[in-house]
Amino acid sequence: MPNHPNTSFLTPLSRFDGAPDAIVRADCQQMLPLVPTGSVALTHTSPPYNIGRRYHGFRDSQEIEHYSNLIENVARELFRVTRPGGSLFWQVGYTDFGGNANGESSGIKVLDALSLPIFETMGFHLWDRIIWNYFGSMAFKSKFTNRHETILWLLKPNETGSTRPVFHLDEIRERSKEYDGRNHLFGRNPGNVWQAERVAFGSVGQTSHIAVFPEEVSEKIVRACSQPGDVILDPFSGSGTLPKVAYTLDRRFLACEISEKYARQSDSRLRMWGSSHAENLAIGLLVQYAFHGRKGSKPIRYLADVLQGYAAKDDLPRDHAALEEAARVILGAERVTKVIKLQKQKLWVKYDRIIADRKVIDELSAADRGLAFCYGHRKRWNGVRRYLTAGRALIDLRTAIDDAGGTSRFVRSICRKANARFLIDGQQVRCLRTDPGLGCNGAPEVTRQPNQQMTFS
Ligand SMILES: C[S@@+](CC[C@H](N)C(=O)[O-])C[C@H]1O[C@@H](n2cnc3c(N)ncnc32)[C@H](O)[C@@H]1O
Repeated sequence: MPNHPNTSFLTPLSRFDGAPDAIVRADCQQMLPLVPTGSVALTHTSPPYNIGRRYHGFRDSQEIEHYSNLIENVARELFRVTRPGGSLFWQVGYTDFGGNANGESSGIKVLDALSLPIFETMGFHLWDRIIWNYFGSMAFKSKFTNRHETILWLLKPNETGSTRPVFHLDEIRERSKEYDGRNHLFGRNPGNVWQAERVAFGSVGQTSHIAVFPEEVSEKIVRACSQPGDVILDPFSGSGTLPKVAYTLDRRFLACEISEKYARQSDSRLRMWGSSHAENLAIGLLVQYAFHGRKGSKPIRYLADVLQGYAAKDDLPRDHAALEEAARVILGAERVTKVIKLQKQKLWVKYDRIIADRKVIDELSAADRGLAFCYGHRKRWNGVRRYLTAGRALIDLRTAIDDAGGTSRFVRSICRKANARFLIDGQQVRCLRTDPGLGCNGAPEVTRQPNQQMTFS
C-alpha cells in the first residue's frame, strides 16, 4: 500500500509499470499489455454494453465489429495476465446493435452469449453463470422490465490443465432463513442468484457515474475468490467500486478507466477508506458517533474519547476468545450430536437476536454497525459471524491505537488517511461527509453541504 495517506492512486499510462495499487487513466487496450503475465489473481469487470449510455468522455455506441474487437483484445490480455487457476468475473447485460434501416430495433443481443465464445477461444473455462437480480430499473412499456444482469465466472486452468478455483465459501456464507440444527453455524452458500439493490443514479453516495456496481456484489466475489495480498483487476473500473472493495479488504488492485473524470472520482472515493478493518472501523465509528446528523464543534479530544470508549473494553479479548472457542468446537465437531446442535442453536439465536432487535447497545454492536457502514456484504452474515469479526476488529483497533502512540494521534492519522471524508488542518478537523452511503463523492461536492459540517478545535 502507498505509505503516505495523501498519496493519490492515479497513475499516468506513461509511468505505469504494472505495479499494483494504481488507477490508470487510459484505454485498457493500452494499459493491459503493461501488466505482468500471470500476476492477477482475480478480475471482476463490466465493460460498456454498447447501448448508447451517456458516459462522460466515452461513446457507448459502436459498430458490432469494433465492439467485438474491443472484447477480443481485452479477453486475450485478461487470459495472459491471469495467473493459472485464477478467475475472471465478466458482468454484462444485453446490447442492441441499432436495428434495421428504418430505425426499428431488431431485438437484443445478450452480451454473455456474445462474449463467451471469445473467452473460450482464449482458453478460459466457464465455471458458473451468476444472475444478479435487482429492483428499481427503468419501467418498459413493450416487454418485461429488465431486472437482471449476468456474471460469467471464467477460469484459467492451472498448469496441469485442471480447473479448481480458489473459493472461500466460509467468507461469503449468508444468513440462513431460520435456525435449523442442520445448518452451518455461519450460514448457507449464497447460491448463484444474487439480490442486491442497484446504486440508483442520484441516490445517496452516488458519483456522477451512471453504471456503478453495488459494492456488495464485488465484495462477495473478492472475498470468495482471493485472499489478502492478491492482485485484483478491473480494466473498466468506472467509479472505482472494485478498487475500493479490494483496498478495504487488504488486497492490491489494478484499475483502468478511460474517462479522466471517473478516474479522478474513483481516486477520491478510495482515499476515504483505510486499508484494514481496524482503520475502517475507526472511520465508521467516527462518522456515525461523532458526526452523523450533528452540527457544531467539539474538541478533537472528543473524537479520541469516542474511539477510546470502544477499544478499551477490558473483557473483550476474553469474551472474544470464548466465542471463538465455542464456534471452533461446533465447526470442528466430527458428528453433529444433540449437544452440538443445542450449542449451535444457543449461539445462533443469541447473536442473531442481538443484531435483530438492536436494543443491546454495547461495544460489539457498535463495532458491528461501524463495520456494516464500510462493508456491504457483512449485513448478510448471521450474528455469530458478525460478532466474531466485530470483536476481532475492536481488538485490532486497540493495537492500532497503541501503535500510533495514543488515541489522539490515531484519530489524526485516520482523518488524514480519509482525507476526502475529513479535513484536518492543525488542530481543526472538519467532517466533509456524514451520509452512510457509499461515500463515492469527492470533497469538492461535499463542501457544498455546509449544514452537514462539524468543526473540531
Ligand atoms: C459499465 S461501466 C463500469 C462501472 C464500474 N464497474 C463501477 O462500479 O463504477 C464501464 C466503464 O468502462 C469505461 N470504458 C469504456 N471503454 C473503455 C476502455 N477502452 N478502456 C477503459 N475504460 C473504458 C467507461 O468509461 C465506463 O466507466
